[in-house]
Amino acid sequence: MNEAAPQNHGEEPGPSRRSLLWTAGAAGAGLGLGGLSAQSAAADSAGSAPGGRPAAQSAPAAEDLSAEPKRRGPTMIGVPFERRSTVRVGLIGLGNRGGSMIDLFLAVPGVRVVALCDIVKEKAARAAAKVTAAGQPMPAVYTNGEDDFENLCARGDIDFVYVATSWDWHFEMCRTAMLSGKHVGVECPLAMELHQLWELVNLSERTRRHCMQLENCCYGRNEMRVLRMAHAGLFGDLLHAAGAYNHDLRALLFDPVYYENGWRRQWHTRLRGDIYSTHGLGPVANYLDVNRGDRAVRITSVGSPSLGLAAYRKEHVPPGDPSWKESYIEADRTISLIQTAKGRVIRLEHDVSTPHPYSRVNSLGGTKGLFEDYPERIYIEPDHTDDQWGDFGKYAHWDHWLWKEHANPPGGHGGMDYILIFRLMQSLRLGLVPDFDVYDAATWTAPVPLSNASIKAKGAPQEFPDFTRGLWRHKRPGMDSRKPEE
Ligand SMILES: NC(=O)c1ccc[n+]([C@@H]2O[C@H](COP(=O)([O-])OP(=O)(O)OC[C@H]3O[C@@H](n4cnc5c(N)ncnc54)[C@H](O)[C@@H]3O)[C@@H](O)[C@H]2O)c1
Repeated sequence: MNEAAPQNHGEEPGPSRRSLLWTAGAAGAGLGLGGLSAQSAAADSAGSAPGGRPAAQSAPAAEDLSAEPKRRGPTMIGVPFERRSTVRVGLIGLGNRGGSMIDLFLAVPGVRVVALCDIVKEKAARAAAKVTAAGQPMPAVYTNGEDDFENLCARGDIDFVYVATSWDWHFEMCRTAMLSGKHVGVECPLAMELHQLWELVNLSERTRRHCMQLENCCYGRNEMRVLRMAHAGLFGDLLHAAGAYNHDLRALLFDPVYYENGWRRQWHTRLRGDIYSTHGLGPVANYLDVNRGDRAVRITSVGSPSLGLAAYRKEHVPPGDPSWKESYIEADRTISLIQTAKGRVIRLEHDVSTPHPYSRVNSLGGTKGLFEDYPERIYIEPDHTDDQWGDFGKYAHWDHWLWKEHANPPGGHGGMDYILIFRLMQSLRLGLVPDFDVYDAATWTAPVPLSNASIKAKGAPQEFPDFTRGLWRHKRPGMDSRKPEE
């Protein structure tokens, strides 16, 4: 998997930087750090990482998450987008991911890319050239330092902000976009700390803007087919599921130019735990109707020794490389178990620092049988009774309508990136309720801080916050959508 001329714009003024920071501090003080304690945040977030925000600004001090924060506005569950004929998009972060996802925004009907932002001028210029090559007007370009994204967010002609920067920035960029009146979608993970997840939930409710985790794996063909089959009862009563991000990223992590300033490897010196949980958890949370009838209630995590990156460096990285000054603390493999309110069990894995073929595991089991991916195989009664795996290809008629309509989608990751962007932009155009919301975003990301807290506590279970504040009990549609009338 490929990991997966400034202008003056006289648009509406956005909130001042000071007011943003005040909002963060005030909300954070009332919320609590919980799983990732103030102490551990300080220990883990070792100052400023390359391309990152200093820890002091992103970790307001607080003490306890057990008291559920008061709702700051009505729920965002079931809230539709405003209908519009064209979706006007601003993109922040135009590296590997943003620089390729822009092709898909330009390929989807009814979308206009109006503004771009990256701290690296060449990346923004390359992306701007793609916009004009697609026949759209030259977008506004923001490359004037690491806070220039605020000027993009403040524009009056943007409906949706897409964020694909290094992880340190996700929280602040989502917050700024919502405070500027924009819906926002962010690459994984939503944010790195528990109090930040709560703050984004509260802000989404207060501003009435959607804040979404753009979890492309939820839109994979297999994932959508399994989701439909699960909802149709083909697996019986659901019992267990598993998901992972097991992807050997060692060569990319040590590549001197792939990640801007090597930001991603730095996280292996900063945080121990499942630091990329959403690819694994998102799809299986959908299978189990998490936040739509069930919910994650607690998580237990353990981590293996951290040896893989140092071993790789010894073999492949020349002496004198800046990485030789680094000590890696991230477990090579983190394994977590999540239990749901209905007693189901989810196993999550994360491993990007040892040799292995790519796998998101992606399995689902119930009283009638089992699906496992990588490679895909199925065993469900009454179709299978002989102890032999069956052919998942025979269930293609269960494909989601999105995959029936887009049999060969353009773009990377087998087409799921396109399906995600197509459906999201369709929802924004037609004024639909989005397939996923801020509660899903916070839930899928929560294992990042919670696994860290559990590992520190020698595997002790950590309570999973109920970001929906009780509304998880209600059944509602998610990605298992019906095709809308255009
Ligand atoms: N969903 C997927 O399949 C998938 C695949 C790859 C990456 N990702 C995610 O995409 C995000 C970006 O990863 P990447 O591989 O593109 O990294 P990258 O380093 O190539 O790109 C990040 C970009 O953000 C820019 N940036 C950093 N700080 C900024 C700021 N303050 N203002 C404006 N721009 C800023 C950098 O200059 C860089 O161009 C990460 O969250 C990553 O996890 C998701």
